[in-house]
Amino acid sequence: MTAGSAQPVTSLYVHVPFCAHKCEYCAFYSEAAAGELVNRYVAALMRETALVADDLKPHTLFFGGGTPSLLNLRQWEQILKTLERLNLAGAAEWTVECNPATVSLDKARLLRSAGVNRISMGVQSLNEDLLDRLGRVHSRGMVFQSFDVLRQAGFDNVNLDLMFAIPGQTLEMWRATLAEALALGSEHLSCYEVIYEQDTPLFARLQAGEFDVDEELACAMFDELLERASAAGFRQYEVANFARDARKENGVRECSSDETSVGHRINTPSLHHSIPAFACGHNINYWRGGSFYGLGPSATGYVRGVRTKNWSNTTLYCDQIEKGKRAIESREELAPLARAGETAAFGLRMNAGWPFNQFQQTTGFDLRDEWATEMKQLTEQGWGTIEPDRFRLTCEGLRFADAAAEQFLRS
Ligand SMILES: C[S@@+](CC[C@H](N)C(=O)[O-])C[C@H]1O[C@@H](n2cnc3c(N)ncnc32)[C@H](O)[C@@H]1O
Ligand code: SF4
Repeated sequence: MTAGSAQPVTSLYVHVPFCAHKCEYCAFYSEAAAGELVNRYVAALMRETALVADDLKPHTLFFGGGTPSLLNLRQWEQILKTLERLNLAGAAEWTVECNPATVSLDKARLLRSAGVNRISMGVQSLNEDLLDRLGRVHSRGMVFQSFDVLRQAGFDNVNLDLMFAIPGQTLEMWRATLAEALALGSEHLSCYEVIYEQDTPLFARLQAGEFDVDEELACAMFDELLERASAAGFRQYEVANFARDARKENGVRECSSDETSVGHRINTPSLHHSIPAFACGHNINYWRGGSFYGLGPSATGYVRGVRTKNWSNTTLYCDQIEKGKRAIESREELAPLARAGETAAFGLRMNAGWPFNQFQQTTGFDLRDEWATEMKQLTEQGWGTIEPDRFRLTCEGLRFADAAAEQFLRS
């Protein structure tokens, strides 16, 4: 370990590269789970974790995929025991992604008792036909069942992932899914417009002219989302992310000092700029340009300015780790200005925008010097607003956040 006297990294992402079945739209690295390979992966992951453990003190821990909930009880026990032994358990925010088809009460209880305190569940839609067409392995009924199971196991911080602008989805269908998802009373909601990723069956169908992309409908769906989520007590804090300030049933969730340390609050008197209590601290760290380790096949990491990417091949990953090496395919150290540009672009996806001081502390650059022209242009266009302490995108700007943020990139 080459940490030297540097502060340990406080954020860890673990990629679980298995799914029961590949969804039509998905380009995340994952494959159908094959018995022995899963065991081999778990053993390799534990070795890889040990290689970086000395440089880690996780405030946020995120198991994503793929489908982490696909791992069986024995595999999870092995992972949880190793994290405990390496002093990596007990993060202030510990998320595990679940697919509704693979949630069981035993597994949920095991995770909860080991310190997992946040679940992110992939729902996508509550329309049975659309679920089918997307290639999802679960029914709408399983979403409701799994949500109950998670609550029963004691999870009081649950995110639901939804998708909109799905081919064949009408505004009415989206309204119905939103209404039912909001009625579940989760603490967090992530809603993604469908992205047509190359090399996916959905992309091939688009290329074959089976359907058209309807931008106007997508905008209407996004408007509907903003309105309904807000009426249901959610606050948008990033383009696709909404969270509550308090649990639905009772009481306000006070922010503890731990939550402040994982980035749940920005110190500002204005509600508009504050981060809701149930926001995802792990993702906020990404958007704010913080360091994180990424373990498992295809995982990316970003530690002290160096970006790494692991091999997107589980067998190759295991081979490397079994030889005692990290499984890194590529390593890149960006020039300081390029890195600051990326950090600017990521952070502008948040409703709070970038406070000038925080940006300077993070990157060493002042937005008002290097990006004065871009900020002025975006402001004139109605996409941005320059406030005394920060620059942020307006509602309109957030809708086109990718295009707006791109202007901040520097080669
Ligand atoms: C790794 S998956 C979540 C957990 C689990 N694998 C599942 O799907 O149930 C992360 C989320 O990304 C979103 N997503 C994946 N591919 C997408 C695409 N092409 N366009 C938009 N959203 C996508 C989905 O909402 C999905 O739930
Ligand atoms: S969306 Fe989730 S379940 Fe579907 S293939 Fe991607 S990672 Fe797997």
